[in-house]
Parts: sequence; C-alpha cells; structure tokens
Amino acid sequence: MSSTPPKTPNTSGPASDDSQEVEQAEDLALDQTLRPSRFNEYIGQQNIKDNLHILLTAAKERNHPPEHLLFYGPPGLGKTTLAHLISKEIGAQIRVTSGPAIERVGDLASILTNLSPGDILFIDEIHRLNKAVEEVLYPAMESGQIDIIIGKGPSARSIQLDLPPFTLIAATTRIAMISSPLRSRFSGGVFRLEFYTEKEIFQIIERSSKILGIEAEPSALVEISIRSRATPRTANYLLKRCRDYAQIKKTNLTKTVVDGALSLLGIDKKGLTHSDRKILEIVVEKYKGGPVGLNTIAASLSEDQATIEEFNEPYLIQLAFIERTPRGRIVTEAGYAHVGVQYPEQKLQF
Ligand SMILES: Nc1ncnc2c1ncn2[C@@H]1O[C@H](COP(=O)(O)OP(=O)(O)O)[C@@H](O)[C@H]1O
Ligand SMILES: [Mg+2]
Repeated sequence: MSSTPPKTPNTSGPASDDSQEVEQAEDLALDQTLRPSRFNEYIGQQNIKDNLHILLTAAKERNHPPEHLLFYGPPGLGKTTLAHLISKEIGAQIRVTSGPAIERVGDLASILTNLSPGDILFIDEIHRLNKAVEEVLYPAMESGQIDIIIGKGPSARSIQLDLPPFTLIAATTRIAMISSPLRSRFSGGVFRLEFYTEKEIFQIIERSSKILGIEAEPSALVEISIRSRATPRTANYLLKRCRDYAQIKKTNLTKTVVDGALSLLGIDKKGLTHSDRKILEIVVEKYKGGPVGLNTIAASLSEDQATIEEFNEPYLIQLAFIERTPRGRIVTEAGYAHVGVQYPEQKLQF
C-alpha cells in the first residue's frame, strides 16, 4: 500500500494498482464525511467568504441565480466544498461533472438542456475541457443560449436553444491553463484559495476528530497541523492515519504517536513528503540549485510534470524553499538548509 498522503484523490486518473484505488475510495469517503455542511463550519478563506456573502445576498434579493464563479488553487484546499456550500446556502440543486467527463459538445448540450431553473452546475477540473466544448460554453454562460447542430452534411442545420437560468461554478488546480475568454466569463468572480494557517488547520482537525470520535491530545493536533502542508484534506488524512497508528500501539493520540506515524509515512518536520524532498535534492545536487526547467526536474524524478506543478510546487513555493524564475526553478537558501546542504557562498553575493 502506498504510504504517501493523497495528492489529488478528486482527480480520478488511472489507478496504478488496486491498493491505490482502495485508498482513493477511502479518501473520497473521508472527504464526504468531514466536508463542512454549513458556511460557519468552513474555516478560513475569509476574503472569499466575504465576497460570496455579498454576491449571494444580492442575487437572492434580485431573485436571480448568482453569477458564474471560478475557484482555483492546489488540491484539497476546499474548492469542491465551496460549490456544495453555495448550493445549500441558496437552496439550489447542484449537478456535478468534470472537464474530462464532458468529452463531446453533445455531452455538454445534454447537461445544459437538462438543468432546471436556478440549478448550479459544478464543473471540476475545468482546465481539462476541450476547445470545442469550451466554445459552446461561452454563449451558455453569457446569454443563456446554446447553438446546436442537428443532422449531418448538406441537410445539417443549427438551432438555438434557450437555457434555464443557472450558475456555473468551476474549479481548477491549473489557472494558467484557463484561456482568457473563458476566464472573463466568470462574471461573479475568479477566486484563489489560500493555504491555511496552522491555527485554522488545528480548528479543522479538532472538528474532524470530534466527528470521527477520536480522542486526541491538543499537542498531537498541533503537530499534525504543522505537518499537513497547510491543506485541510491532507490534515484530515493524517489525522486518520495517526488514529490508526495509536490504535495499533494501544495508546492515546499523543504527540509521540504523531511523530511515529508521520515518520513512518515519510513526512518530515515541515510536512514535506518524500517526493517534495526529492525535488529539492535533485535541483541542489544535480543542477547546483538551479535555475532548471520543470520538465527537466520531472524527467529526473520520473514523475508527471502536472503532478509536480499542481501538488508539490505550490507548497514548496509557499515555504519559500523554491522560487519560480523566468529561467526555471531555483532552490532558495532555506531550501538548501532543509535538505542539509551548505548554501554555496557565491550565491550569497547576489
Ligand atoms: N475551509 C475548510 N474548513 C473545513 N474543512 C475543509 C475546508 N476546506 C476543505 N476542507 C476539508 O478538506 C476536504 C477537501 O476539500 P475539497 O473541497 O474537496 O478540496 P478541493 O476541491 O479544493 O480539492 C473536505 O472534504 C473537507 O473535509
Ligand atoms: Mg475538488
């Protein structure tokens, strides 16, 4: 069984083996059990909550569905949760789909024409929508209409259908892959989810441990908060792994148990996984700290470039262990220190 925390359990790519599939199913179930069902349980992201409050209240007063929204940020920060919370808040039905699931124009047409007035359509991983489908989405978002072509060859004709008023909520881990025409059609706003503070993560897993019936010492929860990559999904996952470890060791969930469980999982004092550290080490050891291109790093690691960009890099940047420069990635002095390598003196002069 793989021992790294979930990377993108909501992006169901091809599972490499059965155990991974089981693990992903388990993570999905955990997501659902622990997903906040009301806005007051949704910790942090205050700026987004404030904006949404105004947007949703104004829409309610106008008696019209809220405008289209796009949420972006690394996996596990609460994008899907926001979409569900909004639907609850305004009492709307939510239809859930994803970019890769909408393969053809016809798929989107059928989803859109089957919406009821006021529905929310949630499209996860919208960066994976293909161009042809994206073009059909534009008029749907802008003027509530779609053009569909009926028939083939010379007898083909295009008809325009009016759609019921709806709200599109989309999520992506790759904002750079969203074309500007698409981006500009999210008239309600484009919101970036931030990493959470340790205190916020603490509050989240404190609630999770109550729901899961876990008796944990506060110092244990503090330690998990520090080592969970500032990400709620990871924190919940680690909480559960630590609970299992405590159970096997027949002890309470203490800080010592957290230390034992997390070191077994290969998670270090800063919450970095094996693959995070490997990235730092490769850049430091093979490329003198950079700059080096992401594709080169990915090739050296035999890792998928998208995974590094979506999952590993944002947190390494958040910790200021690496920096993105126009010439490639560089490891900072703090990054060197973390892998225990002396920072080259000539670099200090700059
Ligand atoms: N702000 C939050 N407060 C409390 N729990 C959260 C918050 N954001 C995320 N979570 C927890 O993390 C899990 C993953 O969040 P999710 O919305 O699925 O992330 P994303 O869609 O961004 O990958 C949720 O099921 C929930 O348990
Ligand atoms: Mg999601």
